Amino acid sequence: MKHNIVRCLCLLLPVLWLLTGCAPAPAPTAESYDDFVVVGFSQVGAESDWRNANTLSMQQAFSESNGYRLIFDDAQQKQEKQITAIRNFIHQGVDYIVLAPTTEKGWDTVLAEAKSAGIPVIIVDRMIEVEDDSLYTCWIGSDFLGEGRNAVRWMDQHLGDEPLRIVHLQGNLGSSAQLGRTAGLNEGLSTHPEWQLVYRESGDFTQAKGQELVEAILADGLDFDVIFSENDNMTYGAIDALKNAGLTPGKDVTIISFDASRHALELVMQGQISYDVECNPLHGPRVESIIQKLRNGLSSPKLTYVQESAFDAENVTQSLLEERGY
Ligand code: AHR
Repeated sequence: MKHNIVRCLCLLLPVLWLLTGCAPAPAPTAESYDDFVVVGFSQVGAESDWRNANTLSMQQAFSESNGYRLIFDDAQQKQEKQITAIRNFIHQGVDYIVLAPTTEKGWDTVLAEAKSAGIPVIIVDRMIEVEDDSLYTCWIGSDFLGEGRNAVRWMDQHLGDEPLRIVHLQGNLGSSAQLGRTAGLNEGLSTHPEWQLVYRESGDFTQAKGQELVEAILADGLDFDVIFSENDNMTYGAIDALKNAGLTPGKDVTIISFDASRHALELVMQGQISYDVECNPLHGPRVESIIQKLRNGLSSPKLTYVQESAFDAENVTQSLLEERGY
């Protein structure tokens, strides 16, 4: 009897849906994307110009015309949102998961779930720290410690043995970009007794927070010579704060920045930023070529560091600005 009722309902429901036009939209599944390679991409957020350029690069590489269906999730800089997104990707049965992680720690459980579901995970940009590195297939991104060391080398060569009072604006705490750049500066501080760290705080890689922090230290009357800012957007905020206080960036305060996006390089050219260490966000084609390899049964190196450069008034040129893709 129960079976008969169920059978009747099964027959009636589609007819009712047709008559009322109220059929619920089916949840997207990998099966509904038959002809496409389905990629779930969990992105950190939209905190910086770098991040937006990175998102665009991924969206362009994983386009339908390239044979992909990209399921994109913006985690608004929250790891718990990334964990939920990954669980949704697993539930949807995607072919590949790409993760740009907010922070390094805290991924073991959810990546073990992806592994049990047989879904390869590619980590991009920042790194993760897991007990078992078979939880991800490979990683591609920047040498963040190398970037920090690069900045310190420039300070060493250009500011010499001068006593320096350094303001340090950190990125979001626990991210590889923050950890690596901060470690680079810490090494410099330990070998330069004449360098003094007068302030250190996280500006979460955002322009608004960068401005807020520098406004607050200026209001407190703190004196400083250098701002070591872990990304360009915090630098833009810091520059606005300095200008609003009647100071001249690049003259009254030496500014070191990271990312080297086009606008920041214009500021290098104008002398407002003294040194900008590149962090390249154009990972879309790189990750796409990793997926191509995996699909063809080939392997990809576990870790791949992208080539990056750095700029000051000596090597920044108009043609470099014009060619800049971000
Ligand atoms: O992980 C890369 C960093 O994250 C970039 O330096 C920063 O701008 C971004 O938000």
